[in-house]
Amino acid sequence: MPKLIVYNIRRLYGINDSGIKKGHNLNSIDYIDDAYIICEDDKIIEIGSGDIYKKYSNENVTFLDAENKIVVPGFIDGHTHLIHAGSREHEFIDKIKGVPYLDILKNGGGILSTVKKTREASFEELYNIGYENLNEMLLNGVTTVEAKSGYGLDLENELKQLRVAKKLNEDHPVDIISTYLAAHATPLEYTDRKDEYIDDCIKWLKLIKDNDLAIFCDIFCEEGVFDVNQARKLFSEALKLGLKLKIHADEIYDIGASRLCEEFKLTTVDHLLATSKESIKAIAKMNTIANLLPFTSFSLSKPYARAYKMIDENVAIEISSDFNPGSAPNNNFELVMQLGAIGLKLTPVEILNAVTINASYGVDKNKEIGTIEKGKKADFLILNCDNLEYFFYRMGKNHIKHVIKDSIIVYDKQKGFGK
Ligand code: NIG
Ligand code: FE
Repeated sequence: MPKLIVYNIRRLYGINDSGIKKGHNLNSIDYIDDAYIICEDDKIIEIGSGDIYKKYSNENVTFLDAENKIVVPGFIDGHTHLIHAGSREHEFIDKIKGVPYLDILKNGGGILSTVKKTREASFEELYNIGYENLNEMLLNGVTTVEAKSGYGLDLENELKQLRVAKKLNEDHPVDIISTYLAAHATPLEYTDRKDEYIDDCIKWLKLIKDNDLAIFCDIFCEEGVFDVNQARKLFSEALKLGLKLKIHADEIYDIGASRLCEEFKLTTVDHLLATSKESIKAIAKMNTIANLLPFTSFSLSKPYARAYKMIDENVAIEISSDFNPGSAPNNNFELVMQLGAIGLKLTPVEILNAVTINASYGVDKNKEIGTIEKGKKADFLILNCDNLEYFFYRMGKNHIKHVIKDSIIVYDKQKGFGK
């Protein structure tokens, strides 16, 4: 494969990985102006400033003119429920009228209605839905996606979801990091037997690990769903098997879920709409990343997470879509980032760091992606923007000009999807 040289970049953002950006450090980013990037095989071999076009114009090189626009690392969507069947528009009106999310779940709707549809769907159906959703995400600049199971809730269907994710990871240019979330809800056949269900989730763990189907283990730890002790039990076993940990915490009530980062090495704590002051302080002490999901607040008409309180306490923040058919039926990541500004009151630089460098740590891929620097994967976007602020200010417009993944131009606004 000839080298790919992207040149004529007005500003190249995110060129230095100096670790997770905690607290107010989230608002700092390194960049160079009038920049170029040289890619070889799937990696970046050089970045710099000045006119590179002339120097290489006689060589067998593919040139891509950034047309004096800005370039950023590929976006990482670190919390999604990508693999699912069906939709839940029938609950939408109830939600608008104010029926609480947990009441819909209690009455057999919500997650359980998606479980029914996902169980009924074949591998191929789930694969095709997932593929289409990934295409749409790529169009919004997402090059890496975390994808949870959790709509199977039995061994056969949890395996099916995770195998679909694995196959999509092989076939689609977007990379997928899989998370085992069997502890997402109690399936109907285990009604009033939650502890037994958790025991079975633990039994299935080994098979998931042996088949290399997940990197992370997650649980929906919430009032009326699973409690902190059930999370402890699951996490202890998952850790023994070498899985890394994430948790759905404080989405509706703070029942101590995010505090588990003190006992376990949690990579991320996700949601945090209802997180108390004490819990924020506990997260700040650890290297755990607070993964905030602003679209879910928007869609459930809930208050947004207190991002600034977290930043003041020196917490590291990441932002993700939570894409799922219930609380966040949206896979438009540009909108999610814009809601990070409007809802979480974060600055453009803070949000860019949240979805690139910090998110790369959140999916344990920081050695490969998250910044544009020598030795990392060539995974970046040319935005149709003269400055970063415009990306956030101008909503409802697709700002993606080119997507480069592993040195391949996988999307070009003029030509569509590449190979
Ligand atoms: O992260 N809260 C739990 N899980 C998802 C919602 C899943 C659904 O409603 O289907 C979430 O919001
Ligand atoms: Fe979620």
